[in-house]
Order: sequence, then structure tokens, then C-alpha cells
Amino acid sequence: MAKSVGIGLDIGTSSVKIVELVRDKASIKISKFGIQPFSTNALTGGVITNSSEVARVIRELFQMTKIKPKKAVVAIAGQSVIVRHIKMPFMTKDELANAIRWEAERYIPFAIDEVNMDFEIIEEDKDQNTIEVMLVCAHNDILHSHLRALDEADIQPLAMDIQPFALMRAMGMEQTKIEGSVAIVDIGAGTTDLTIVKDGIPRFTRIIPIAGTHMTTTVSDQLLISFAEAEELKIRCADALYDFSGSEESDAYKVNFALQSSLKELVMELRRSFDYYRLQQRNEEIKEVYISGGGSKMKNLIPFMKNELEIKVNKGVNGIGITTRTGDDFVEEFPIYTVAIGLALREVLDA
Ligand SMILES: Nc1ncnc2c1ncn2[C@@H]1O[C@H](COP(=O)(O)OP(=O)(O)OP(=O)(O)O)[C@@H](O)[C@H]1O
Ligand SMILES: [Mg+2]
Repeated sequence: MAKSVGIGLDIGTSSVKIVELVRDKASIKISKFGIQPFSTNALTGGVITNSSEVARVIRELFQMTKIKPKKAVVAIAGQSVIVRHIKMPFMTKDELANAIRWEAERYIPFAIDEVNMDFEIIEEDKDQNTIEVMLVCAHNDILHSHLRALDEADIQPLAMDIQPFALMRAMGMEQTKIEGSVAIVDIGAGTTDLTIVKDGIPRFTRIIPIAGTHMTTTVSDQLLISFAEAEELKIRCADALYDFSGSEESDAYKVNFALQSSLKELVMELRRSFDYYRLQQRNEEIKEVYISGGGSKMKNLIPFMKNELEIKVNKGVNGIGITTRTGDDFVEEFPIYTVAIGLALREVLDA
């Protein structure tokens, strides 16, 4: 039986987000939510490098939102969280549990005893006598650093999920499988995380190092201002379709001029990944793109990406129509809380 309350904790590069979902008979509602930024660098490449800062922010967030149960579902993300699909000869799950360890080593850039791993048989081909296995590996450094920070914050981790699954769940893609291929692009502070989902299964993941922090740094470098000033200017003035016919002296002109190359680079990396996916999947087209993360809030980003990628681009959909307790539809906040919602949903949805 699913629980009636679920708490999702998204430890991002720039901030921590929390969401508490409450389920009654008819619906799932957001009862409490909050975000709290780090005051110093706390994560690098998905590994928590400053656990006391993370613990401090988590404690503050629980206090601020008045969320009582000190337990939550948490996600790990980054370059060292790896999803791979492997074709293997037909075998039972028990046989696979042994064989996968040997097989996995060929597919991951780490020694097998350096990772934590999980797997699932996603397809059986009776004619070919093969199975397709989805392998999920996470480097121990990521996992242990999270456990340490949570322990320091007195939070009991109910489960460790990976970010692509949380995003899919929040957008309703785990519950209602979309036919064909769609891409989820989460533009955070540290990285842009691409997940391509085919028939409801994540087929391809890639971490792109161009995201919010990279963009702010570009603005800060080109305008010779501090990171904090550049961040404030970026949020106020960034426009992916800025019209450069106005004065070169205005803040908006300078900021958007600086941002141009990052935006172009980001769509180029996405295009490259899409081309690679198409090749790998025998010309399988990507039908639509769904965006989330703080970076996705940039003005005109959707039409910009649509023009550049020549694919329909949408705001990440609030997959199961979650509302707040007062019935507000949570549209504005959804991109920021997508991962946290996906994590909390793990507890309140029927397995
Ligand atoms: N209106 C906006 N326009 C442009 N960028 C924005 C806007 N609002 C927020 N951002 C950017 O979003 C980023 C934060 O997004 P988010 O909270 O999703 O990242 P994170 O989860 O901390 O990082 P990551 O997912 O990479 O670990 C910051 O870099 C911030 O500058
Ligand atoms: Mg994030």
C-alpha cells in the first residue's frame, strides 16, 4: 500500500528543494514546499564535498517549511551515475544477478567494487533468446557523500533514486507511457541533464556541463562583475530571443550578448546527442522535448530551442496534475520542484 505522505529532497548544485505530498482518496496535493540556496560551493559533479553546509541547509529547510517527519526520498545525479542498456543471452533473474557483475565492467568506466548497482530486465526476446537489461550504477563516492550529509542533518533516507527516474515520474511518464521517443532536458545550475525516454523507458542519458552557473560565469567574465551581480542581472535580463537592435550600452544588451555563445553551445550539444541517439536507434525520431530546472525559466527559451532543434519544445508537464492545498496549479514553481516532486511521488504512488 502506498503511503499517504511523501517527502522528496532534491540536493542540487545551487540549492536544496523540498516537497511534501499528501495523498487522499481523490488526489495528490502539495502540502508544503521550499527552497534554500547554499552559501558556498557544496557539490562537485554530483558528489557532496561540503557535507556540513548541505546538512545546515537541509535542517533550515525542514524548519522553514515545518515538515515534521525527518525522512525523505533523495536523488543522486551526475557523470558518475550511469544508465546502460545491455543485450544478454536469456537467463533467469538469479542467474543474471551473478552474470551482470562481470558484464557491467565492460560498460562502466569504474571498477565494479567502486559502484553500487541495480538492474532490471526490460525486454525478453523469445525468438532471439536474448534479454535486454537496464543497468543503473552509481559511484560509491556519490552515494556515501549523500548518506554522510543526511546523517549529519538527522534525516533518514527512505530511498536513493536517480534524477532521470524522478523527472519521468513527476512528468507522468512512468505512469502513462508515451509512445515513441521524447527528451527531458533539466537545465540546472551545475549541469544540463538529458534523458531520452522511449516507450516509457529511459534509453539514453547524458550530462552536459553547460547550465546556469556556466552562463552566469560567462556574464561575470565578460562584464567584469562579481558572480552574484551577474546572477542577478542574468535572471532579470536574460532573453533567449533578445533583439540586438537597441542600445549596446544597456544591461540587457550586454547580458544577452554574453549569453549567446552558451545558449548556442547548449543546443549544439543537445543536437549532437539527438543525432547520436537517432543513429543508435535506427532513425528513431525524437517527437518532443520537455524542459525543467531553474535554467528553463529563461525568457523565450522554449521558442529559441524550438527554432534551433526543429522539435516541439514544452515546459515540463505537471504529469499528474498536482495542485497545492489551496488548489493553485503550481505552474510557475513546477520547473524548480520537478525532481523533488518526482521523489516524493515514489512514496505516495502505488507501486
Ligand atoms: N529566470 C531565470 N532565467 C535564467 N536562469 C534562471 C532563472 N531562474 C533561475 N535560473 C537559473 O537556474 C539555476 C538553478 O536551477 P536549479 O535549482 O534547477 O539548479 P540545481 O538543481 O541547483 O542544479 P543542478 O541540477 O545542476 O545540480 C541557476 O543557475 C539560476 O541562475
Ligand atoms: Mg537540479
